[in-house]
Amino acid sequence: MSDAIAFARAHRGRFRQELDDFLRIPSVSARSEHNADLRRAAEWVRSSMTAAGLSARIFPTEGHPVVVGEWKQAAAGAPTILVYGHYDVQPPEPLELWDSPPFEPDIRDGRIYARGSADDKGQLFLHIKALEAHLATRGSLPVNVIVLAEGEEEVGSPNLAPFVQNHLDLLAADTVVISDSAMFAPGQPSLLFSLRGMAYFEIHATGPSTDLHSGGYGGAVANPANALARIVGDLHDAEGRIAIPGFYDDVAPPPPDILSRIRALPFDAEAWTLETGVPPVGGEDAYSPLERLWTRPTCDVNGFLSGYTGEGAKTVLPAKAVAKVSFRLVPNQTPERVRELTERHLERVAPPGISLELVELHGGRPWQARLEGPVFEAAARALERSFATRPVLTGEGGSIPIVVELEEMLGANSLLIGFALPGANMHAPNEWFAVDSFERGIDTLIHLYDELAAGTGNG
Ligand code: BES
Ligand code: MN
Ligand code: MN
Repeated sequence: MSDAIAFARAHRGRFRQELDDFLRIPSVSARSEHNADLRRAAEWVRSSMTAAGLSARIFPTEGHPVVVGEWKQAAAGAPTILVYGHYDVQPPEPLELWDSPPFEPDIRDGRIYARGSADDKGQLFLHIKALEAHLATRGSLPVNVIVLAEGEEEVGSPNLAPFVQNHLDLLAADTVVISDSAMFAPGQPSLLFSLRGMAYFEIHATGPSTDLHSGGYGGAVANPANALARIVGDLHDAEGRIAIPGFYDDVAPPPPDILSRIRALPFDAEAWTLETGVPPVGGEDAYSPLERLWTRPTCDVNGFLSGYTGEGAKTVLPAKAVAKVSFRLVPNQTPERVRELTERHLERVAPPGISLELVELHGGRPWQARLEGPVFEAAARALERSFATRPVLTGEGGSIPIVVELEEMLGANSLLIGFALPGANMHAPNEWFAVDSFERGIDTLIHLYDELAAGTGNG
């Protein structure tokens, strides 16, 4: 066992307590009443980076702060790794569905239950601890390292791209490494070959200038809720395809090697049904579940607001209806093009008496990995060392919108190496991160630097 691994094992108890402290901070980026908690979380990240041996600074932005830690004393010519993660979390609601409070970490059945344990505080923490283990035992790293932690990922990273653009020297790196995703199955680590992109909108349907008596006016006034329900229903055809004209024009079929990798992976429909309560139906009939999840675009209603939703009946004809609609995108779709097509579609389908408006909330392009290079190889070996099995390559249906932009601005490739397990309840009640993932994750990232030293000749 290496000295760094031994260090991590010896300090496991302290590491776990530190993670608990991090998880206790309710850093909910979507809610302004938590702004001070975001600042506290940023400060927590900065001081844990400093304790690990990085020099770390907090950068205010127009939104939540960015934290950057760095260690750049590797031998001349050594590459630079930029680790990206986020310290903000999703809102915990509905609170009544949590079995233990979201910001009081609780260990049950080998799992750490808390909002952010898997997405992404727990996984960001793994990186900081792996660096600590190396620097505490060796005093150095074989590569230069930058850790970039943001507090706005869960609200679409509105301030991160400008921040990166304004700090290109500070953030210059050869490879971006991100742990903010899941393994394919327990015991089966994976490296990602893709993430879907995102285009998120609200559709506002407006009718009469005020709510009206549904008897006095119903039948002679167009009802925005009825109209929007129809419009939303008509966004898909009977085969589950998205019915916006031109929508599939930019959709590229996945490369043959990716398709054969997907077809070689087992899909456990029973486990899926157990986890979600429904069989893997929905979406396009013509594709398998994994193909639909990883290689096909989607259009989903995330919320629907209109009219009277309180107890009992109220006869009212609402003046307005709003649907929150997100599209997941695949190569070569862009949020801009999807917006154009959707706007044009809405213009065509707006019924008399109803005006429709499309409001963009956020977006990001889909990402595809370049599955090669020394960092990729080193990560595969590191995972094999800690999980005793080779990683599989998988896609991912979720989105991390900044990845493509980071790659373009830095001229770097990204490696996505996630440690959450399927069913971790990211964004849902009872989010958890396995204690086993916590321990093996730290080991893996410690091995990663050893393997990078072997692979880049910078011991
Ligand atoms: N970590 C997730 C994305 C993710 C989830 C990747 C599961 C792989 C597996 C990230 O924090 C996230 O939730 N992203 C959002 C996008 C954002 C713009 C709100 C998403 O995918 O909905
Ligand atoms: Mn995340
Ligand atoms: Mn998330």
